[in-house]
Amino acid sequence: MAAAAAAKVQEVREITRIERVGAHSHIRGLGLDDSLEARHVSQGMVGQVSARRAAGVVLQMVRDGKIAGRAVLLAGQPGTGKTAIATALASALGYDTPFTSMAGSEIYSLEMSKSMALTQAIRKSIGVRIKEESEIIEGEVVEVQIERPAAAEGTKVGKLILKTTDMETVYDLGGKMIDSILKEKVQSGDVITIDKATGKITRLGRSFTRARDYDATGQQTRFVQCPEGELQKRKEVVHTVTLHEIDVINSRAHGFLALFSGDTGEIKPEVREQINGKVAEWREEGKAEIIPGVLFIDEVHMLDIECFSFLNRALENEMSPIVMIATNRGITRIRGTTYKSPHGIPLDLLDRLIIIPTVPYDQKELQEILSIRCEEEDCQLSDEALTILTRISMETSLRYGIQLITTSSLIARKRKAPEVQMEDVKRAYELFLDEGRSVQFLKEYQQEFMFNENDEDESQMEIN
Ligand SMILES: Nc1ncnc2c1ncn2[C@@H]1O[C@H](COP(=O)(O)OP(=O)(O)O)[C@@H](O)[C@H]1O
Ligand SMILES: [Mg+2]
Repeated sequence: MAAAAAAKVQEVREITRIERVGAHSHIRGLGLDDSLEARHVSQGMVGQVSARRAAGVVLQMVRDGKIAGRAVLLAGQPGTGKTAIATALASALGYDTPFTSMAGSEIYSLEMSKSMALTQAIRKSIGVRIKEESEIIEGEVVEVQIERPAAAEGTKVGKLILKTTDMETVYDLGGKMIDSILKEKVQSGDVITIDKATGKITRLGRSFTRARDYDATGQQTRFVQCPEGELQKRKEVVHTVTLHEIDVINSRAHGFLALFSGDTGEIKPEVREQINGKVAEWREEGKAEIIPGVLFIDEVHMLDIECFSFLNRALENEMSPIVMIATNRGITRIRGTTYKSPHGIPLDLLDRLIIIPTVPYDQKELQEILSIRCEEEDCQLSDEALTILTRISMETSLRYGIQLITTSSLIARKRKAPEVQMEDVKRAYELFLDEGRSVQFLKEYQQEFMFNENDEDESQMEIN
């Protein structure tokens, strides 16, 4: 039962993720210069210059750790690049800063309570940078001797001679070490490190003293100095994990394998409290540092009043990520209440927000975005086809225009054309309705449909 439920959760998440990666795969960063000014076209981003610049300021604040406890709202019409900008910010932040992205409605589809889901999302967005001293052996390989036994099952024995500029030592090798030496293809002249705790071998490069031995070393070979001093050293290693990862590893019911299966289920509040305590201790001792990451909630008007008050409280917490939210709603009802408010967000949260507006694109910008997408999808479009595609996007929506790239290129491929022509775009336009025509179509044929009542809430729903 539990396993089946978990599998379902997993599935739902995967699907949303695939869609997003696809739609924004052309975006590699915010496209800003050193003074945070937005370049008109850069890193896959086009126009929307003020919003990108503002996002750059947010990025700087995240990096300086100055913004925890606040929230950023991206507000603008559908298709003006709100999600795109959040994605760009995520890639600009780099691997070391956690970034979690979810759609507001996801809260309701997960098989856990709303507050649980939000807690988890928040803890996924807070990084803990842990410093650890580890003992390593670092030296240049003088010789590797491995004796392979005649029988396949016999234990291998071997010796490894390592040196620094000051000393040389012979190490006896066990079976596990022999395997990793063979796997890493370690040979004399390599400079390597061995982690004493895990036995992990890392090749740093080849020693300069051996540079002349090989005429045929590949271009990618890196030459390094033979290490100095003792062979055994203490080295500081730094790695970043999220609070959520620490939660999962420490929640005995699941173990760390749950990280890979996604089957994390509910984590007990006591476990979280213990971990908060432990992390606070590490901070005092200077062993760990908190890295507030970003939690992005798209379509935030889908959250209800309970979620909003939960978020508000979370922002007050000492350990809080930067919450970034996006919506395309103006004045609208706050879910779970009868009140209306700007963006459907309660006033106490609105108070904490800095708002970044996004504005509709002009024709030139649309054309640029469309041609970047064509490149990304490996589509050749004739100039005429691109012009008409831009016109269609102006009149319908950018997102519809982007959809037509894929469909019209399939149509062109079917007639074995090397390039998408105007007629292919027209054909795709006829085959696939945009929102406006689809609504028109439904209105015209309403009488023939069985369910033709117009629920107020339902008609407010937009596809994003
Ligand atoms: N400024 C931009 N530069 C490049 N691509 C963009 C830009 N704005 C939007 N897009 C692309 O257009 C599509 C629609 O934008 P999206 O970010 O989903 O809009 P929103 O979230 O505001 O409704 C996405 O595929 C997005 O990657
Ligand atoms: Mg969006």
